[in-house]
Amino acid sequence: MSDPKIVKLLDESSNRSSELPLISGTLGPACIDIGTLYKDTGHFTYDPGYGSTASTKSAITYIDGDQGVLLYRGYPIEQLATNSSFLEVAYLLLNGELPKPAEFAAFEHDVSHHTMLHESLKNFFQGFHHDAHPMAMLAAAVASLSAFYHDDLSVDDPADRKLAAIRLIAKMPTIAAACYRYSVGWPLRYPRNNLEYVDRFLHMMFEVPSEPLQMNPVAAKALDLLFILHADHEQNASTSTVRLVGSTGANPYASIAAGITALWGPAHGGANEAVLKQLEEIGTPDNVESAILRAKDKNDSFRLMGFGHRVYKNFDPRAKIIREMCHKVLAELGVNDPLLDVAMKLEEAALKDDYFVERKLYPNVDFYSGIIYKALGIPTEMFTVMFAIARTAGWIAHWIEQHETPGSRIGRPRQIYTGSDVRDYMPTARR
Ligand code: SDX
Repeated sequence: MSDPKIVKLLDESSNRSSELPLISGTLGPACIDIGTLYKDTGHFTYDPGYGSTASTKSAITYIDGDQGVLLYRGYPIEQLATNSSFLEVAYLLLNGELPKPAEFAAFEHDVSHHTMLHESLKNFFQGFHHDAHPMAMLAAAVASLSAFYHDDLSVDDPADRKLAAIRLIAKMPTIAAACYRYSVGWPLRYPRNNLEYVDRFLHMMFEVPSEPLQMNPVAAKALDLLFILHADHEQNASTSTVRLVGSTGANPYASIAAGITALWGPAHGGANEAVLKQLEEIGTPDNVESAILRAKDKNDSFRLMGFGHRVYKNFDPRAKIIREMCHKVLAELGVNDPLLDVAMKLEEAALKDDYFVERKLYPNVDFYSGIIYKALGIPTEMFTVMFAIARTAGWIAHWIEQHETPGSRIGRPRQIYTGSDVRDYMPTARR
């Protein structure tokens, strides 16, 4: 009787074999541990998009793409969206458990008292042209944080790791608001510690010297919910980037800055900005059919932004929550955005079209979020910055988990070499 925990691999051409253990986690598919494969058989595995490859073990987030399930530390995203707050979710992702009242109070105090930036960072923004993309400014400003905290950069010191997590969660909204205000020529605003996390951010974004900002509870609640939904998502491209950079021993600010640049891509976090631009290009529900035709045309690089997902082959559970919230927020804010009609028509047409149905292409987290950001007065170029504020909680939780895992090694994939075979140098005269 063969051992169900072992996968036997035989390479008949070389008659070399390997017995590979099957390892399982709490939930999800078992994995074949291929650590000894090259030694046993002289072969690598090949999986360029990592579609069948687990890069690490993690206890932070679980996704079931077929069932449309998303759990943060075991808690369903739907329950956290209904009952929690972004700061409580950040605590949960970092510490693995929901905080007791005293634990949350201490965490909130720590975050509130690390929101300011070193004063000389204000000059940093002056170096950018006024129309610099805020993601470029954000990545640069976050990377520069390591220039201010020389004494607390030891990746091996748990206290330094915790302090870096607090600083990053606290300062991302301050930096993000500074990027926006610099782009519109407004004076930067200092964080107000008497405000809660999201209100403090909205105040830094929109308060102008000439009049006090009327805080909008609908906007704050909607933004807090969007931050919860974007906080973490397993080993997505930007989180995997943070882990790969972190595996070299790079400091937390450099690792998170790498995650920010990975998130920027339109196939990833940049999709929310791309969705809104695409909805504006489509313009009216009457143009939806031609957009669907273009998305299906293999000779056209056009894709429906906000549709499809590497893991979800069912509705993205976050998209379902955001879709409901979209209608509610626009109604409460009294906003009638024609782009919502275009989005609804696009979703309806795609979900009926065989091309999308066969490929299990459903709306993802980015499809509706831009419409809400727009209703809250967030400019389109800031949409991916919003994603980065939220995802910082997940990124730094993964970075800490990686450094707390004994035996973690530098990530160093191999390749299939397709270049020239060995050849001798050709002198110039003979080329
Ligand atoms: C995020 O990983 C995460 O968890 C990410 C994220 C997170 O929280 O971190 O969930 C956030 O990044 C969400 C995804 C945002 N991106 C977009 O909305 C951009 C549009 N979507 C696609 O580019 C695409 O669907 C991806 C990048 C999301 C997924 O790409 P895959 O898994 O590599 O899929 P694929 O490119 O292999 O596509 C499979 C087929 C192809 O057609 P065939 O070659 O089989 O004929 O589906 C087609 C693709 O052409 N396809 C699309 C499409 N997405 C895939 N066709 C039209 N429009 C699309 N949006």
